[in-house]
Amino acid sequence: MEITLAIIKPDSYRNGDTGKIIDRIISEGFNIKEMKQLRLSKEKAEGFYNVHRERPFFSELVDFMCSGNCVVLSLERENAVDKWRTVIGATNPEEAEEGTIRALYGTDTGNNAVHGSDSSENGIIESNYFFLKRD
Ligand code: CMP
Repeated sequence: MEITLAIIKPDSYRNGDTGKIIDRIISEGFNIKEMKQLRLSKEKAEGFYNVHRERPFFSELVDFMCSGNCVVLSLERENAVDKWRTVIGATNPEEAEEGTIRALYGTDTGNNAVHGSDSSENGIIESNYFFLKRD
């Protein structure tokens, strides 16, 4: 079994798409190991996206992620990382395959509905970033 981290981003949350995305997660065979709703602080968002710190879109990305509530989920499934990336589609919703979550609920590369870990290792690191310490 593999772990991946999913984030339902503030655009999806604001648009009322959270329930539909969680239904999709379940119907695609993921076990929701952990889930919480939160509003990210600037420090927490900057830490999460630290690898992108030098990219030109970094401050826009952090501002967006802090602009409203998110739902963060640690998902478990066989082949969870690749499966979730297939279910969510390309980073840019305009390039995402029909029926993928980003095609259905995203708008553009910034407002792209959901996050997914990019490797098995990062699935664990990112899940620990949100769920290692209990509230
Ligand atoms: P995500 O899967 O959360 O991981 C990194 C995020 O950076 C990505 O989704 C996008 O939302 C964001 N991103 C990538 N490229 C750009 C860009 N050119 N402009 C704004 N945001 C971007």
